[in-house]
Amino acid sequence: MDMTKIPARQGNYNLKNYETSRKDFDWEEIKKEFSWYKTGKVNAAYEAIDKHAEDPTKKDKIALQYSAPGREESITFEQLSKKSNQVANVLKKHQIEKGDRVFLFMPRSPEFYASFFGILKVAAIAGPLFEAFMEQAVRDRLEDSEARMLITTPELLDRVPVEELPQLEKVLLFHADQDVDGDKFIDFEKEIDNASDSFDIEWVDLEDGMLIHYTSGSTGKPKGVYHVHHAMIQHYATGKWVIDLKEDDIYWCTADPGWVTGTSYGIFAPWLNGVTNVIRGGRFTPESWYETLEKYKVTIWYTAPTALRKFVSAGDELVKQYDFSHLRHIMSVGEPLNPEVITWGERVLGLRIHDTWWMTETGAMLIVNLPCMEIRPGSMGKPIPGVDAAIVDNEGNELPPNQMGNLAIKKGWPSMMRAIWNNPGKYESYFINDWYVSGDSAYMDEDGYFWFQGRLDDVINTSGERVGPFEVESKLIEHQAVSEAGVIGKPDPERGEIIKAFITLNPGYEASDELLEDIRLFVKTGLSAHAAPREIEIKDSIPKTRSGKIMRRLLKSWELGLPTGDTSTLEE
Ligand code: WT7
Repeated sequence: MDMTKIPARQGNYNLKNYETSRKDFDWEEIKKEFSWYKTGKVNAAYEAIDKHAEDPTKKDKIALQYSAPGREESITFEQLSKKSNQVANVLKKHQIEKGDRVFLFMPRSPEFYASFFGILKVAAIAGPLFEAFMEQAVRDRLEDSEARMLITTPELLDRVPVEELPQLEKVLLFHADQDVDGDKFIDFEKEIDNASDSFDIEWVDLEDGMLIHYTSGSTGKPKGVYHVHHAMIQHYATGKWVIDLKEDDIYWCTADPGWVTGTSYGIFAPWLNGVTNVIRGGRFTPESWYETLEKYKVTIWYTAPTALRKFVSAGDELVKQYDFSHLRHIMSVGEPLNPEVITWGERVLGLRIHDTWWMTETGAMLIVNLPCMEIRPGSMGKPIPGVDAAIVDNEGNELPPNQMGNLAIKKGWPSMMRAIWNNPGKYESYFINDWYVSGDSAYMDEDGYFWFQGRLDDVINTSGERVGPFEVESKLIEHQAVSEAGVIGKPDPERGEIIKAFITLNPGYEASDELLEDIRLFVKTGLSAHAAPREIEIKDSIPKTRSGKIMRRLLKSWELGLPTGDTSTLEE
């Protein structure tokens, strides 16, 4: 088979002619499929959950098929609706109001999802935090967002510097094993059990806030990417077109809701489409994920290249032990999808893997491989209907096909971020004229397929997780032995990139394996495991510009043995 082009198949979105159907496209038409089109009243929690719970033919359908080591539960739309109503009543009792930030720091669990919708139902803004965050990461996010409330568990509480967060009024504890003071700390389960399971949902405007996800850039602390209810239009539509969701599908998105894929496609896309959503807690192993696909008869699977590469390494024999006959559609996101992985999918699973491209800031998929499109392995595909993408130069001029430049999107798609929290200057910096400039470099071929080339900034993508070098450097220099630090992404066949740190030592410290391990653990336990450098190298000095900026580009060239380019701004 010609692996440069894999033929299309039928899907929900069947294009006779991709270009003409794009020309006639109007997002207003999609809005008519929502119940609020007639009433003008909006709440994404209603569209995702309550609407189905009110439908006699849908209310007993399994919304959430949950499994984690030692726990398995099937939760219907009606049950999820009632549970989230109880949560909403508790939040209201504690004076949570429209626009307040309520953060979630807990493992993936049915309680997480009920709480998430409870937050939306009172018109507050949800801030899900990745369960593996350590104190610094948690503190930065709660401080910047000025969260009034945090929902967490006793196990995670020692990573929350509650006393140092004056704006944090209440901490709601799930599974509180002992009595809590009831003033600042609240036994959440007890209050939920005592709360009514009906609630008058708070209706909002399409442009009202719904969600904040923090993400990393090259410089500074993580940034709060702010999304509004309007985004659901695109979650719903891409759920239909790209994920190809149909009534009877069993869908599994492997991402954690602490990252945007885990909310846009682990929450909204499946439930806005009324589909059964598989949620799996616990660690990744190829066996446990294969088991999940088999056991729940998953039909549609959305995952990441880093996991797929691990399946490839685990070998073809393992696959043969499982029955994947229900699986009909696979998609990937987060990093470049290696053509070898697509070949593996075809050979071993008999299915094409469809790459999708988007970012925390874009809120939903923008460049994709629709089921009805021919796949070109190595390409991210083409823009979805209603979205214009181009390659532009640094002034925002469109470049012709096959020329590398900034991957940019014409402003105005529904799920675009509406602000960077507390940082209007940063928000503005994403745009040149009418273009949102992604920070990725790419080119477009003559047929309109986009090909990813790399990041243009210093952001690191390790196993699909986005890490800002500045955060890691800041943590490193907090270690008593470290004087200066420069952090880069080093190419790695399995993880895409690994984090490599260059450091200088303070006087009195000697290089040793123990010291390097201690420094690595310091970042791991202070910030998060995925941000800890896998390699640390000691240098006599770290290259900086005359204005004192670390020259990461130079570090990278040294590491890769590449020409160092222009070093005219180098200090001394
Ligand atoms: C960055 C965004 C929202 C998806 C999860 C990651 C990289 C994303 C692809 C792809 C190559 C990709 C880009 C992008 N990326 N998808 N299909 N091929 N690279 O969201 O953490 O905001 O990261 O991930 O570099 O800018 P994120």
